[in-house]
Amino acid sequence: MAHRDVKRHLLFEISTEVANRVGGIYSVIKSKAPITTAEYRDRYTLIGPLNRKSAAIEVEELTPSDPYMVETLRSMSERGVQYIYGRWLIEGAPRVLLFDTGSQYYHLDEWKTDLWNVAGIPAPSADSETNEAVVFGYLVAWFLGEFVFHDRTRAVVAHFHEWLAGVALPLCRKRRIDVTTIFTTHATLLGRYLCAGSVDFYNNLQFFDVDSEAGKRGIYHRYCIERAAAHSADVFTTVSHITAYESEHLLKRKPDGVLPNGLNVIKFSAVHEFQNLHQVAKSKINDFIRGHFYGHYDFDLDNTLYFFTAGRYEYRNKGVDMFIESLARLNHRLKTENSQKTVVAFIIMPAATHSYTVETLKGQAVMKALHDTVNEIQESVGRRLFERSARHNDESGKDFSEDLNDLLTGSEKVLLKRRVFALKRNTMPPIVTHNMADDANDPILNQIRRVQLFNNSSDRVKIVFHPEFLNSNNPILSLDYDDFVRGCHLGVFPSYYEPWGYTPAECTVMGVPSITTNLSGFGCYMEELIENTSDYGIYIVDRRSKGIDDSINQLTDYMLQFSLKSRRQRINQRNRTERLSDLLDWKRMGLEYIKARQLALRRAYSSSFDDDEDYSFFDGTEMKLSRPLSAQASPRDRSGMMTPGDFGSLQEVREGLDTDDYVGFKLPEEDEDEPFPYPLSLK
Ligand code: UDP
Ligand code: G6P
Ligand code: GLC
Repeated sequence: MAHRDVKRHLLFEISTEVANRVGGIYSVIKSKAPITTAEYRDRYTLIGPLNRKSAAIEVEELTPSDPYMVETLRSMSERGVQYIYGRWLIEGAPRVLLFDTGSQYYHLDEWKTDLWNVAGIPAPSADSETNEAVVFGYLVAWFLGEFVFHDRTRAVVAHFHEWLAGVALPLCRKRRIDVTTIFTTHATLLGRYLCAGSVDFYNNLQFFDVDSEAGKRGIYHRYCIERAAAHSADVFTTVSHITAYESEHLLKRKPDGVLPNGLNVIKFSAVHEFQNLHQVAKSKINDFIRGHFYGHYDFDLDNTLYFFTAGRYEYRNKGVDMFIESLARLNHRLKTENSQKTVVAFIIMPAATHSYTVETLKGQAVMKALHDTVNEIQESVGRRLFERSARHNDESGKDFSEDLNDLLTGSEKVLLKRRVFALKRNTMPPIVTHNMADDANDPILNQIRRVQLFNNSSDRVKIVFHPEFLNSNNPILSLDYDDFVRGCHLGVFPSYYEPWGYTPAECTVMGVPSITTNLSGFGCYMEELIENTSDYGIYIVDRRSKGIDDSINQLTDYMLQFSLKSRRQRINQRNRTERLSDLLDWKRMGLEYIKARQLALRRAYSSSFDDDEDYSFFDGTEMKLSRPLSAQASPRDRSGMMTPGDFGSLQEVREGLDTDDYVGFKLPEEDEDEPFPYPLSLK
C-alpha cells in the first residue's frame, strides 16, 4: 500500500442502519456518534443506503466541503448515482452519505455476475434483501475506490457492520483499493437461523456442517457474503465473546477482538432526577392502563408493577416463549399466595398489523371522556364550594356544611352516570392493541392462548402485546421507547440468541432493573464484571447449563422475588442499578474501537508508521481508565486499570486471540480448571 498519513486518517463507517432504525445496530452507531465525531470531527462520515422515509426526518442535507468528497460525488453522480449527503440530526451530528440504491438497480445482473466471478458468491434473483446488499456493496466499493484515487495523502479506515453492508469487503480486497478495512459482525446468520429452530446450538457449535446448514435454510448465498466479509477484512471483530466463539466456528475466522457496545450515558445534575422521571413516565403508562382495562379496571395501580420485553420479533431467539411461560407460572404463584399485587407485562415487538383495534382506541376514548367530564364538574363544584363557603353566614342561617351533599347538580350527576355506564363492557380487556395480519398463526398470541393468560379479573398477571415500536406520536401508549422504559419496573429479556442485547443495557443506564441470560453478550459481560449482579438489578437466567424447565423456574423466581419487594426496596435497587451506567458508557467502550482502527492501520499501512513514535494503544496501561468510583462496590476486585476489552481482546491482538480468551463463554464439556474470574494478563 502507498505511504499515507495515518495520523490524520479518515474514517468511513458503513451500515444499513445509518439514519434508519431496524434494531440494535442503529443504537450502536447512533449512541457512538458523539464520541466518534469528537475524535474525528469532519474526518468521519457514515455511509448507508438511502431510506427516503426515515432520511426525511433524520437528515439535514449539506453541501460537502472536502474537495475529495466533492470530486468523488461529482464523478459518481455524473454516472447516475443518486445520494443524499448531510448531517444526521442526532447528538454529535455526524456527516452521512446515503446512496439511493434504486438509482443503480439496472446494474444488478452485471454486478451479480461480477460477484460470482471475483468472489464465487452466488446471488439468486428472488432474494430482494441480498439484491439490496449487492447494489449497496458495489456503490460503496465504487465510492471508496474513487475517493482514494482523488485523495492520495490520507489513510482511510472503512469500518463495516454486519453482512448486509459486507459485499464491499471482498471487492475492496480484490480491487486492491487502498483503504484498510474492519468488519464487525453483530450476529452470524447461521447462529440466528439455527437458534430460531429447535437445535441445541451451543453444545454443537463445533460440529455444524456450515455449508450444508446454510443450504438447508436457503441462505447459502447470504452466508457466503458474510463469510467473505469476515475473511476479506483487515481486522475482524464482533460484539461479545460468546459471538466471537460462534464466529470462529461458523465463519471460520477467529475474530481479532471484541468491540462491546456502549451507550451514551446521560448524567443528571441531581442524582434523583431519574427517579422523578420514573414517576412521571409511570403515570403516563397508568393512563394507558386505565383505558386499556376499562370495565375491568379493578386493580390498584399503586400496587401494580410494569414488566416488559421489547425488540425485533424473534420469538425464540429473544426468549418470548420463555417469558410467557414464566408469566403463567408467576400468575399461578401470586394467586396461590393470595397476593394483592398485579403485574402488567408488556410485549413490544413489531409484527405485521392493520393498525389499532377499535376496542383499543375506544378504551382510551371512553377514559378520556370520563376524565374531561370529571375535570369540568370539578371546576364548577369548586366554584360553588368557594361561593358557598365565602357566604357561610348568609341570611338563611343554615350551616354551610349542610349544603355539601348537594354540590353536584342533577345534570352533573346524570352526565357522570352516563360516562360511567360507557365503561361497561362485555368483552375481556384485549391482549393485543392492533389488528394482527395473521392473528391465528402468530406465535406470541398462540403461546398466550396456550397458557391461558386472558386478562381475567382473577389473574394477577395481565398481558398487553403492542406489535409496533413505541413512539410519542402514536395515538395509544404515546411515549418514546426510552420514556416507556423509565416508567416500567423491570425489563425481561430471556434471550436464547443475543450477541449483545441493547435492551437490558439501556434499562441499566436508565436505572431500571432487568433480567437477561448467560447466553447474551451483555449478560456475560456484566457477570464477568460484577460480583453479585442481582443486587445491582441485573438478574441473569442460566440458559447455558440448566435444562429449559429449570431456566423457566429460575426466571419465575426472579420475577416473583422482584414482585415481593417493597417500594422502598425498589427505589434503592434502582439507585444501585443506575450506578452501573458508567460501566457501559462509550467513553469506556469506545477505546476498543480506537484499538481496532489502530490495528487496521498498522496492518495495512505498516510502512507509514514511524517506529520511533509512540503508538501506545496496545502497549500498556496509559490508555486505560480506572474503574468509575460510583461503581466501586460492584466490579470484581481486580487491578483498577482496565478497559472493556481486557477480557481477552484487542490488547493481545498482535499475537491473536486464543479460544481461551473468550472469557465468560465456554462449552459445558470443555475443561474448566479455573473458576471465574480467569486470571487476566493485565500489563
Ligand atoms: N427499540 C426501540 N423501540 C422500541 C423497542 C425497542 O427503538 O419500541 C430498540 C431498543 O432501544 C434497542 C433495539 O431496539 O436499542 C433492540 O436492540 P437489541 O440489541 O436489544 O436487539 P436486536 O434487535 O439488535 O437483535
Ligand atoms: C420514584 C419517585 C418516588 C415514587 C417512586 C415510585 O422513586 O421519586 O416519588 O414514590 O418512584 O416507585 P415505584 O417503584 O413504586 O414505581
Ligand atoms: C444484533 C444483535 C444484538 C446486538 C445488536 C447490536 O442485532 O442481535 O444482540 O445488541 O446487534 O450489536
